[in-house]
Amino acid sequence: MQFTIEVNNRSIRAEKGETILSALNRNGIMIPTLCRMAEFTPTGACRMCVVEVEGRDRLVTACSAPVEEWMKIRTHSPRVIRARKTIVELLLANHPDDCLYCERNLDCELQRLADQLQVRERRIRGSKIKQRRDQSSPAIVRELSKCILCGRCIRVCEEVITATSIDFIGRGSTTHVGPAMDRDFNFSSCIHCGQCVLVCPTGALHEKHYLSEVQEQLSSDNVIRVIQYSPLVPWALAGELGVKYNRDFDRVLNAVLRKIGFNKVFLSGTGTDILITELADEIVRRQESGEKRNLIVSACPAWVKYCEQFYPQLLSMLSTLKTPQQISGAIIKSAVLPDDDRKRVYTVSVTPCTAMKFEARRDSMTRKGISDIDTVLTVRELTRLIVLYGIDVSGISPEAADEPMGLRSAASLMAETAGGITEAVVRSLFLKTGNREADRLAAKKLRAAGSFREATVTAGGVTCSVAVVDGMKGFEKLRQMLDGGTVYDLIEVMACPGGCVNGGGMQPAGTREAVRQRARFVWQTNDQEAVRGPEQSASVAALYGKVFEECPELAGKRLFHTRFDRREVLL
Ligand code: SF4
Ligand code: SF4
Ligand code: FES
Repeated sequence: MQFTIEVNNRSIRAEKGETILSALNRNGIMIPTLCRMAEFTPTGACRMCVVEVEGRDRLVTACSAPVEEWMKIRTHSPRVIRARKTIVELLLANHPDDCLYCERNLDCELQRLADQLQVRERRIRGSKIKQRRDQSSPAIVRELSKCILCGRCIRVCEEVITATSIDFIGRGSTTHVGPAMDRDFNFSSCIHCGQCVLVCPTGALHEKHYLSEVQEQLSSDNVIRVIQYSPLVPWALAGELGVKYNRDFDRVLNAVLRKIGFNKVFLSGTGTDILITELADEIVRRQESGEKRNLIVSACPAWVKYCEQFYPQLLSMLSTLKTPQQISGAIIKSAVLPDDDRKRVYTVSVTPCTAMKFEARRDSMTRKGISDIDTVLTVRELTRLIVLYGIDVSGISPEAADEPMGLRSAASLMAETAGGITEAVVRSLFLKTGNREADRLAAKKLRAAGSFREATVTAGGVTCSVAVVDGMKGFEKLRQMLDGGTVYDLIEVMACPGGCVNGGGMQPAGTREAVRQRARFVWQTNDQEAVRGPEQSASVAALYGKVFEECPELAGKRLFHTRFDRREVLL
C-alpha cells in the first residue's frame, strides 16, 4: 500500500512497511549512513542517518524507523546537520589522524562524511586510541585505532560467512573488535575470506599487502619473475583503472605485466582447466568402479579452512586437488623453466581472493622449504603496482601469455562464479558423451539464485548429481542433506556469496544484485568464447601430452594433490 508523506515541505510517495531511509532514497533524497548495510536488518547503532520528524522530541534514525502516513520529515535541517556533524566529530576525536598514510586515504567513508559535513576544525578532543596493528594473519590486517565500532564486519562474519570469528570486546571506552579471547587473528577461526574488509568503512580492516616484497624482487638481479593471474582479473582490473573492458584487455594485461618487469606471464585459468579435467576424470572413475561417495571441491581456500576447523568429519569427502593457482604454481616450479633456473624463480599470483594469501603459506604447498607461489596479490594490489610503475594501459598493444599456460577455456572463467566449477565439470563430462543439451540443463539449474542449489543431469547414459553452496549460509542445507544420507557426484562450496566474483580482493559489490550482475558478465562472456572447455584448449593438450610426461615430478600428477587436516583454533 502506498501513501503520501511530507519531506522538506514536499510530498513523496512511501510504501507501507518500508523504512524512512528506503522511502527517501527511492525518491532521490540521500542522507548519510554508517552502520547500515544494504540487505541487513538495521541496528540503528551509529545514528548518522538521523532525521527530524514533526511531533517527535528526539531525532529519529531513518535506517531503522518505519515510515508512517502522518509523517512530516526534515532531512537536512540545521538541527539534523548539527547532530550528524557532532557524531563525526566524536568519531574523529580519538581517531589517529594519519589519513595521508592510511590504506583507505581518499576511499574512506569517515573521511568523506567529515568532508561532506564540513568538519574543518577539531572541536572535541579525545585521547587517541593506542591499539597496535595486528599483522599476524597472512591475509587480513587489523588496525583498531581506526575502528569506529560500526559493527559491519562482525555482522558479515556472523550472518554471511557464519564463522563468527570476531566480536565486540570490552565495554565503554575500551570497546574494540577482535577474535575470541582478544587474541591475534592467526589464532582465530578467521577463514581469510576478506568479506569484512569489503564492508569496513575505514582502514581498520584491510588485506595484508605484499607490494614491497614484489617491488624488491622486480628490482633484483638474477631473479626470474613469473606472474599468473586468475581469469577474472583483467575485467576487475579494467574497472579499478577506469578503462572500458573488452576481450583484448586480457592480452593488454600480459604486455603491462612484462613492462613492469615480469619475465613470464601465465594464466591461472590453465590451472583451472586442469582442475576441471581431473575432477571430471575422478567422477568417471568413481562411476565406473561403482564407488558412491560425496566429492567436495576444495578450490575455495576459505571453505577448506572452514571445513578443517568446524567440520573435520567432512575432510574425507574433500577432493585432495589443489586450487588452480597452486596447480599452476606446481607446474611453474617443476616443469616450465630449466632446472638451474628454478632456484631463481619468484612467482606471483594475482587473484580476486584474500584467502589465497593464507593458502600459499600452507606447509603442504611448499616443497623442500620453497613455496610454489611466493606472493599472492589481490586485484587492488595489482592496480596499485600498475599505477606505481606509471603505466598508461590505454596505449599498450596486446600480447599473448606464455606457453604452456598461455590459453584458458571459457569454463575456467565460469569457475569464478559460485556453481561455475560444477557447471564446467558437468560440461566436460557431457562433452565426452557429445551431448550439449545436458550442458544447458545444468546451467539453468546451477545459475539460479539461492545459497543452496542442486541438479541431476542425465544424458547419453550418464547421470550426474551435483550440489552448490553459494556462500556459507547455504552450508546448513548441505549438512542436512548429507546427514540425511544424500550422495552427490560433486559438491561445490564457495565461502563468498556469488563466488570469486565477490571475493575479498575485489572491489565491494555492495548488493546481491550487483554480485549477480558480475556473474551475468561471466556467463555472457562464457557463451561468446570458442574454447568451451579444457578438452578444446591447446595449452591443456600440450601439458597432458608432453609437459607432464617429460617432467618426472609431474608425471604422476601427485603435485596437483595436497592434504587437509583438522585444525585447532580459538572458537
Ligand atoms: S576474513 Fe572472513 S572469516 Fe575472517 S574475520 Fe573477516 S569475515 Fe570473518
Ligand atoms: S573494524 Fe571496520 S567494519 Fe569493523 S567495527 Fe571497526 S570500523 Fe566497523
Ligand atoms: S546508519 Fe542509521 S543508525 Fe547507523
